[in-house]
Amino acid sequence: MSSLSGKQGPRYRHVAGESEPYETIAVEKLTPIIGAEISGVDIAKLVSDEARSNRQMDEIHRALAENLVIFFRDQHITPQQHLAFGRKFGELHVHPAAPNEGDPALMKIYADKDSPRANGEGWHTDVSCDLEPPMGSILYIKQCPPRGGDTLFANMYAAYEALSDRMKAYLSGLTALHDGEQTYRGLYANYGVADKQAYPRAEHPVIRTHPVTGKKALYVNRGFTRFIIGIPRDESDAILAYLYQHAENPLFQCRFRWTENAIAFWDNRCAQHRAMWDYWPHTRSGTRVTVKGERPV
Ligand code: SIN
Repeated sequence: MSSLSGKQGPRYRHVAGESEPYETIAVEKLTPIIGAEISGVDIAKLVSDEARSNRQMDEIHRALAENLVIFFRDQHITPQQHLAFGRKFGELHVHPAAPNEGDPALMKIYADKDSPRANGEGWHTDVSCDLEPPMGSILYIKQCPPRGGDTLFANMYAAYEALSDRMKAYLSGLTALHDGEQTYRGLYANYGVADKQAYPRAEHPVIRTHPVTGKKALYVNRGFTRFIIGIPRDESDAILAYLYQHAENPLFQCRFRWTENAIAFWDNRCAQHRAMWDYWPHTRSGTRVTVKGERPV
């Protein structure tokens, strides 16, 4: 069991990076370390009103940078408005394997009593096997089970910061292979999706620097990372096992309890997430729009 406890105070001391108060939105943190609920935003209006859009968009960007994942409740948006909201943050990403809801960039998220699996059940960073993995994902849940179906998020800046100086020095400059083949082949067969001939794979730094905040984040995940390059495989297995266990410490996490028509927007460059499938035999459904990112450095 992972523990950061000792007798000299906390090994990880979180320093909040907020600057100015917000003027066009309200931001209520879920924990000091990750996650915030945003109010005062009507996304349907935001995507169609340029004047409102610019000021609120700046603050939404800032809230995402400061909290890593932000939540909006009671949003009534069409698929087109969901896509338009995503486009405000950049070009849209098309998932290499998952089914969509009519538009290639509108990923279907669905599980019911007959599902063989639900999306995102293990800790992961979305599509980190891409050469340029997505910067962010915007999940809109329309139908919730009566209880359960929460999503957990974890702060990878904090996970990096809480490593020992020796471990930080060891990991500095190392890269790892992220491979979609093992993850995606056959994964969506139950939706009638035929497999592609090949899925993406890419080499990324084990520690990446966020292009907006300039902060370092741990960038390996159970979903896609296969091995660290340039060290013996048994050493890589042991180091990755340690890093996964460390990154999954509840200290770095928040847990979002969904309500119908809520939205979660997370930054894949500094957060991991995991969905709970504890609501069987009930149905949970929605759509995800994913925004393209850059090559990790
Ligand atoms: C995902 O990994 O995008 C799915 C997350 C969720 O359904 O909560």
